[in-house]
Amino acid sequence: MTTNASDLTRTLEALREEALRALDAAESEERLEAWRVAYLGRREGKLTLAMRQLGALSPEARPAAGAAANQVKLALDEGLARRQEALKERALERMAQAQRLDVTMPGRPVPLGRLHPTTQMLREVLDAFTSMGFQVAEGPEVELDRYNFELLNIPKGHPARDMWDTLWIDHTDANGERPMLLRTHTSPMQARVMEKTEPPVRVVVPGKVYRYENTDATHEWHFHQVEGLAVDEGITFANLKGTLYEFARRIFGPERRVRFRCDYFPFVEPGVDMAMDCFMCKGEGHLRSGGRSQPCRVCKETGWIEIMGAGMVHPRVLEMVGYDPQKYTGFAFGLGVERIAMLKHGIDDIRLFYANDVRFLRQF
Ligand code: PHE
Repeated sequence: MTTNASDLTRTLEALREEALRALDAAESEERLEAWRVAYLGRREGKLTLAMRQLGALSPEARPAAGAAANQVKLALDEGLARRQEALKERALERMAQAQRLDVTMPGRPVPLGRLHPTTQMLREVLDAFTSMGFQVAEGPEVELDRYNFELLNIPKGHPARDMWDTLWIDHTDANGERPMLLRTHTSPMQARVMEKTEPPVRVVVPGKVYRYENTDATHEWHFHQVEGLAVDEGITFANLKGTLYEFARRIFGPERRVRFRCDYFPFVEPGVDMAMDCFMCKGEGHLRSGGRSQPCRVCKETGWIEIMGAGMVHPRVLEMVGYDPQKYTGFAFGLGVERIAMLKHGIDDIRLFYANDVRFLRQF
């Protein structure tokens, strides 16, 4: 076969045009690959075949034709690269389109947690007292016998110890002192606070307490108390009553009735218990439903629920912490936080606070 340089150059030109036109029509990766094989394929590619003819040219004609052929090859290589790039971009665009964020779609609701009803009530109680000028202090749940009993005027062997069903623990404190227990009330903080400070004292002590007790609708083996203590010159029982009335008004509103009765706690003299009318039976002691009368189990048929113990701090207690009982007097009180929450919300079983049932907890 004779080859002539100008024929070959024309062939190459035609090939360029044809190839570039075909390239624009290649709409997929597969088509593009087929195109590459058709024009640039090592064995049967049209350009490859054309270039093979360069060898048949005369040595003089070869450089010019060779240069032309190389330009065509370059143009096709470039064209292929451009087309590959364009296809890739289009694919990405399509993917982005498919995944586009629809900002008008409603969001997924985020479940919001909340404070436990005990914690809410605790904070409300503390707010009532702190707004009357009380400070807040906390103490240990694992306590020494000395603070839980002895410094509260309850010596070893005293029958008053039977008032608290105690969980004793086999433990010695950092100074080698024992016996230890899970505090049965927050009252040990009375002594701890007075030991560390000089009067005047006005403090409330929130905290968890423990009792070795069978549970029922109004008793748990652990619960929360808030202790209160005010000591200064000239504090009287009127201050106690005024403070606790004010507390009751703030938490329950003016319509709730309260009652003070004499009670015995070894660390106060006189001692009282403060009660409120039962929210379940409205103080009746029994519930009426459909003409039938049922005993009220919340107040155990008494119509009253005791919400706190209180009294004037016993002179012995002041003496034991180094206060002069001739100079100082004070009052103290201790209330059950869950019990207050039950009154406030009409909850009829204290065990619900610790059952961790969200159907209950969600209501607060
Ligand atoms: N600590 C007593 C109790 O838990 C309550 C109380 C506190 C009584 C302060 C009087 C004064 O039963």
